Amino acid sequence: MAYKLGDVILSRETIARRVKEIADEIAKDYDRDKPLVIVGILTGAAFFLTDLVREMPEDLDVRVDFMSVASYGDGTESSGVVRIFHDLKSSIEGKNVIVVEDIVDSGLTLAHLTELLKGRNPASLKVCVLLDKYERRKTEVKVDYCGFRIPDKFVVGYGLDYASKWRHLKDIKYVVEE
Ligand code: IMP
Repeated sequence: MAYKLGDVILSRETIARRVKEIADEIAKDYDRDKPLVIVGILTGAAFFLTDLVREMPEDLDVRVDFMSVASYGDGTESSGVVRIFHDLKSSIEGKNVIVVEDIVDSGLTLAHLTELLKGRNPASLKVCVLLDKYERRKTEVKVDYCGFRIPDKFVVGYGLDYASKWRHLKDIKYVVEE
């Protein structure tokens, strides 16, 4: 089956406004004198993360690190078994950490990943997602900061891909059958 781009679900302006709001919320929640490590999950979250941290105030001690993971499943569903391809460069022990992900769907990937990171003894660990497909949740994941709750439809753009395509779109769009 061939797919093409459908309507815009979230425009670049709407995304930018919400990203600023989340950055303000995070800035209010954290002390200025402790490092705050923002962990981006490659590749999708890199787009959201770089916009998010640039909206944070200069006096917040923001550090950025990335992880690349893959979750294996039957092709369309993730299993939650996460394999690390690229690990963090620095230790998160004793530090405040926020994991940034593009989208939470079944929740299995984030559930597994947060367990793994908790084992490294951070001072605190929170989760920030741009999109939440809440109808599809299979396991409970505490999402501390959420951009938008969206319906159970496949979306691309602003970091999100379909078969490695369409990550570069400025708006988030639906994917529809041709
Ligand atoms: P989960 O383990 O099911 O929560 O998997 C989340 C991952 O599924 C995300 O990091 C995305 O890579 C992928 N994903 C889920 N829904 C979409 C979508 O609508 N567009 C693009 N990727 C998606």
